[in-house]
Amino acid sequence: MASKQRILILGATGQTGKSILHALVAEPESFEIEALVRPSSADKPEVKNLASQGISKIHVVDISGPIDELVRVMTGIDVFISGIDATSQLAQLQLVRAAKQAGVKRFVPCAFITIAPPGGVMALRDSKEEVYQEIWRQFLPYTIIDVGFWHQISFPTLPSGRVDYASMITPNINIHAGGTAPNMLVDLRDLGRLVARIIKDPRTLNHFVAAYGDVLSQNEIFSVMEEASGEKIVERKHVSRLKSLGAADKLLDTVRFVQISADEIVSERFEAAAKAKAEADNWFAQARQFLADYNYSKYVRGDNTPTYAKYLGYLDTRELYPDFTPISFKEFAKGLLEGGIERPYERYRERLEKLRSGK
Ligand SMILES: NC(=O)c1ccc[n+]([C@@H]2O[C@H](COP(=O)([O-])OP(=O)(O)OC[C@H]3O[C@@H](n4cnc5c(N)ncnc54)[C@H](OP(=O)(O)O)[C@@H]3O)[C@@H](O)[C@H]2O)c1
Repeated sequence: MASKQRILILGATGQTGKSILHALVAEPESFEIEALVRPSSADKPEVKNLASQGISKIHVVDISGPIDELVRVMTGIDVFISGIDATSQLAQLQLVRAAKQAGVKRFVPCAFITIAPPGGVMALRDSKEEVYQEIWRQFLPYTIIDVGFWHQISFPTLPSGRVDYASMITPNINIHAGGTAPNMLVDLRDLGRLVARIIKDPRTLNHFVAAYGDVLSQNEIFSVMEEASGEKIVERKHVSRLKSLGAADKLLDTVRFVQISADEIVSERFEAAAKAKAEADNWFAQARQFLADYNYSKYVRGDNTPTYAKYLGYLDTRELYPDFTPISFKEFAKGLLEGGIERPYERYRERLEKLRSGK
C-alpha cells in the first residue's frame, strides 16, 4: 500500500482551503495534514477549531518573515497547498522559494479561479502568473488547479426571497451580456474532493488542471432555478454595475441594478482598473476590479469553457476521473431551496456590515 502523503495547507480557514481540508481529512489513510497559520490569526476561534478537524500540527509562521522558518516547517512535506485570498497572491513568492529549499514534492499554488489566459485579461490571473513564473524559475514540481465559478455564487435570488439566506448579494438577478456564454461551474464542496484526487495522481504533476462539475450559461442557470422553484425571475435582464465599490462606507447602500451590455461591462472594467491602480491599498477597489475582470472574461470573452481550457493546455478532471460524480447545478439548486446551503464568506460579511453601519 502506498504511504500517506504529508500535506501542508495554508488558508485552511478560508473558503477554498476549508473545502480542501474537509476532503483531505475524509481520507486519513491517504493524507496526514498540517496547517500553516499566520501569527495574527493564531488565537481566532476558527484556527483553534482546526485541531479538532483532523489536522495533526498547526504551524504559526509569518510567511513574510525569515525564510528559514518556512523551510523548517516545509521540510518533509509532500504536497504544499495554498488557498490564500485573492488580494495576497504575491505573498506566495517566498513560499515558492522555501518549498524549493525544503524539497517539497508538489507545490499547489493558489490558482482556483476560472479559466483565463495570462496577460491583461484578469488582474487576479496575472498576479497568480507571477507566482507560477517563480515556480518555473525554481524548477519546483507543481500542479496548478483552476476551477469553475462556484455554484454558491452563481445562483440568482428569487422573488419570494427564499434563497436570500445563502446569497452574498441580494437581490442577485444579474444577467451579463445576454446570458448566453457557457461557463464552467463547480460546487464548492466538490472543489476539495477534486483536489484530493488531483494531488494523488502522478499524471497531474507539472500540469494545469481544470476541475469542474457543470457547464451552463446564465440563461440556463436561471431556467434551472425557475424550474426547481416554480417561481419566475422577472427582472432577468438586469446587471449590477458595482460603481460604488471604491467607497467602503457606502458599499451596500449604493449598489444599483441597471441594464448593461457587453460594451458597458468593458467600460466598467476600465474604470475599475483605473481605480484599483490609483488605490492599490483599497481592498474594495481591488475587489471591484476582480469582479469586473471576471465579468469580462466569463461573459464577454467567453474564456471559462472546457474547450478553451484544453487549448491552453489544461488537463480535464472529467476525462481524468470519469468515475467522479460531481454535484450538478440542478442538485445544488434543490439543496438551496431546501435550506441546506452555507452562505460563503460569512466572516467578511460581518466586516462589510460593520463598514456599512459605520461602526
Ligand atoms: N472559482 C471561484 O468561483 C472563486 C470564488 C472566490 C474565490 N476564488 C479564488 O479562490 C482563491 C482563494 O480565495 P478564498 O476566497 O477561498 O480565500 P478566503 O476565504 O479569503 O481565505 C483566505 C485564507 O488565506 C489565509 N491567509 C491570508 N493571508 C495569509 C497569510 N499572510 N498567512 C497565512 N494565511 C493567510 C486566511 O487565513 P486567516 O484565517 O488568517 O485570515 C484564510 O484562511 C483566490 O485566488 C480567489 O480568487 C475563486
